[in-house]
Amino acid sequence: MEAQPTLLKRVDYDHAQHAAYAKGRALRPEAVQWYMDAFARHLPPKRPLVGVDLGSGTGRFTPALAEAFGGPVYGVEPSTRMRETAEAQAAHPNVRYLAGHAAAIPLPDAAADFVLMFLSFHHYPDREAAVREIARVLKPGGRAILRSTFKERIPDHWWRSYFPRSQQIEEAMFPTVAEARLYFEDRGFSTVAWETPTIPFEGDLEEAVAKLKLRAVSVFEHMTEAELDQGFAALDSALSAGTLQPKPTTGDYLVFARD
Ligand SMILES: C[S@@+](CC[C@H](N)C(=O)[O-])C[C@H]1O[C@@H](n2cnc3c(N)ncnc32)[C@H](O)[C@@H]1O
Repeated sequence: MEAQPTLLKRVDYDHAQHAAYAKGRALRPEAVQWYMDAFARHLPPKRPLVGVDLGSGTGRFTPALAEAFGGPVYGVEPSTRMRETAEAQAAHPNVRYLAGHAAAIPLPDAAADFVLMFLSFHHYPDREAAVREIARVLKPGGRAILRSTFKERIPDHWWRSYFPRSQQIEEAMFPTVAEARLYFEDRGFSTVAWETPTIPFEGDLEEAVAKLKLRAVSVFEHMTEAELDQGFAALDSALSAGTLQPKPTTGDYLVFARD
């Protein structure tokens, strides 16, 4: 399969996202643990497991992966500033953050039991090369977990209707399930699970609006200031009027087994 053409400009996490990401996308510990329990159902029971958190960002999941699976867990992240935040705020004795990217993972062959891509795959400019690297660093039988949004399953976020063009932008940002599977199956992986959990709305709406205003959502990078200002003003009005509705979201992920 050909590498996908870049339809949207690349999001540079060193530019703006790094400053707000850890705060704007923070999850409650129970939500992080929920994912660890979910992923554990698809990983071998032996411990420790060596893991790669590919596109680890500010280390939102990396220490929890080390706690859950033993590690070491390598957080591979191309953005220097995201990585620096992870090193400062998400340190763990069994975690190492490494400069690198999906098409050049700084680890030897057959080093890892699992690779997690948590909302990072759609940022890889060369997904074919990335999947080749993932196959290289995984042990035979290792698992690749792709937590992503998919084009045909764009979540109806609680904020979606205030930023109407975000739907169309996300449809351009994310692969379909079939496309994602093809990248891996073309490289000899088999698809062993496709999970579509519903994630309940967490916290309260006022807190959610304050976090969203930090703009740590990459779809906002593709929208104009005017669109964003208008959306946030409408959200504020709805919050004051008590008409803003909490909504659950989706936590889709695919699991692939390396042959
Ligand atoms: C939405 S953030 C997700 C971060 C983290 N996985 C999380 O869930 O909090 C996307 C991350 O992917 C990283 N990224 C972008 N291009 C990448 C590439 N080619 N290889 C690996 N990671 C990449 C970005 O720098 C950013 O930190």
